[in-house]
Amino acid sequence: MVIAVPKESYPGESRVALVPSFVEPLVKTGHRVMIEKDAGAASGYPDEQYIERGAGVVVDRRELIRTAEVVFLVRGPDARRDEGGFDISLLQERQLLIGFLNPLTAVETVKRLADRGVTALALELIPRISRAQSMDALSSMTSLAGYKAVVLAASELPKIFPLLMTAAGSLAPAKVFVIGAGVSGLQACATAKRMGALVKAYDVRPAVREQVESVGAAFVEFDLPDRQAQDGNGYATAQDEAFYTKQREEMARVVAESDVVIATAGIPGRPAPVLITEEMVRAMKPRSVIVDVVAEMGGNCTLTQPGKTVEAHGVTIMGPLNLPSTLAYHASQLLARNITTLFDHLTDGDGRLSLNLTEQITAEALVCHQGKLISPRVRAAAGLDSSGPQHAN
Ligand code: NAI
Repeated sequence: MVIAVPKESYPGESRVALVPSFVEPLVKTGHRVMIEKDAGAASGYPDEQYIERGAGVVVDRRELIRTAEVVFLVRGPDARRDEGGFDISLLQERQLLIGFLNPLTAVETVKRLADRGVTALALELIPRISRAQSMDALSSMTSLAGYKAVVLAASELPKIFPLLMTAAGSLAPAKVFVIGAGVSGLQACATAKRMGALVKAYDVRPAVREQVESVGAAFVEFDLPDRQAQDGNGYATAQDEAFYTKQREEMARVVAESDVVIATAGIPGRPAPVLITEEMVRAMKPRSVIVDVVAEMGGNCTLTQPGKTVEAHGVTIMGPLNLPSTLAYHASQLLARNITTLFDHLTDGDGRLSLNLTEQITAEALVCHQGKLISPRVRAAAGLDSSGPQHAN
């Protein structure tokens, strides 16, 4: 099949959906890989490297997308809102599209893709099951976000992370508190620990205690009401306001004594719970740092401004967006592995598309196919019957 890799058009997006080292295996299977000129330039992969591995380079984006059978994108075709969904109008019947498609909120885009007969798979919908680990792009990206959040905090904090004994005296290690010990939180714990900080972490799911301890952090216990903390898929369940009020009270002391708070607490498809109030920020030491990784979901701290670094009561509060794009070289490498593994999963030994709609990974990640919305979660988000695939409108 002819696989197209367009240059990302979302403002500030530096990643690319395929890196040169993944071109050769695709070509060997019989596919043709075409990239848009400079598609990998922002992430450190010049066109020449793609050409060396057997890819072609196309200057005209319209031509590239129109003539492809498969399109790999980091950000879905609605990323270019200013251009009125430019890419959507180029996509056609029977084309296969794989990328982050924002399918639960960009419902209109998804319906348009279905109407155009595109077969689209959203990386966000890959189930977090062992069999799908190598395709789990969300985990690859959030793991990088957890790492970068700690690096940002370290560069903002006027203290060093490790214990340092010098002839001029000893410096105490920094205290880092990680809220939410999912994929990004665990990576934040591991990174801060490697940098020498004293690391504590908390999560509503007691099951993660062992994982927190395995990366060298201490799991903090709070006296909270006994509630159902996780759903059948292992994700945290939303709690009521009384629970969050009690959680804030319990956490206030740990937040106040920390030099750095990395906030990663989130519940898929919902706004982030408010866990750090202005009062809690006021109680922190001057020049402490909060990195609110879930800023895009509203943030765990009430004072977070998405995409900005602000100062309040002497504390630096960072609300970074798209951290994986700041690590575009490695983020693209991981994404390329996730995307090509998913692509392999969807094709037979001869490289032909072979979708099994009863298989879990395909069934859950397949947004639309043959004019129908397939994924039950997308159907529910679109206000359609979510018990099985039906026509998009
Ligand atoms: P995850 O679902 O693996 O982890 C979230 C963790 O928060 C879970 O372990 C959950 O139990 C915990 N949690 C939920 N409510 C809590 C509460 N009240 N108190 C303590 N813990 C609580 O998610 P993952 O993959 O770690 O991603 C976290 C967030 O990072 C996502 O919401 C995503 O939007 C965001 N993100 C941000 C990026 C950025 O550039 N800023 C980049 C990538 C992801």
